[in-house]
Amino acid sequence: MFAKTLPAVTEITIKKLYSFPVIVIQFTKGKSDSITFVKSFNVLKKTAMIINEELVKEAVKKHGSSRAALIPVLQELVAGKNYLSDLDMVEVAREMNLSAADVYGTATFYSFLDTRPRGKYVIRVCKTISCSMKGKNSILATIEETLKIKLGETTADRKFSLLETNCIGWCHKAPAILINDEPYTELTPQKVTEVLREYIKNK
Ligand code: FES
Repeated sequence: MFAKTLPAVTEITIKKLYSFPVIVIQFTKGKSDSITFVKSFNVLKKTAMIINEELVKEAVKKHGSSRAALIPVLQELVAGKNYLSDLDMVEVAREMNLSAADVYGTATFYSFLDTRPRGKYVIRVCKTISCSMKGKNSILATIEETLKIKLGETTADRKFSLLETNCIGWCHKAPAILINDEPYTELTPQKVTEVLREYIKNK
């Protein structure tokens, strides 16, 4: 039910507004956040769980429930929700009949399966040998300087997160980064600055 009406939920958080607990549901494409007020913390928790259950069920239905489908299921959830919460991982374990430790271990092993909320654009700077030898450090320093964040951080407006990654398959055109799924290669400090300016200005 919820998956059909809220197809692009990126984050579900529980906050306090004055003395009321509230659930804040953020959407990828929505113009504004949708906020639902609830009086009971149990109702609030239940609401978040129902939404999560539906999203997980939909991902498992699409990819299957065998152990081999675990990574595609987790990728699907990250693509739709931006990151995997503890609640997601528990629900995936239940739906796929796996142990929570297995799901958690897999989710935290792969850097592409985010387990923390990220910005709209996730910048992944390749740290493997070819990129390291071709100036990855100066690319990273330029990004940090331009966005005023350090590695592992997200900008205050939640537009950019900056992470490192292992090889992304563009070694012959190092140094390389990914911004979400888009690769940028043969970078120089000047080139990466121009790329970032485009994102800041137009996206
Ligand atoms: S080493 Fe950076 S893309 Fe392969």
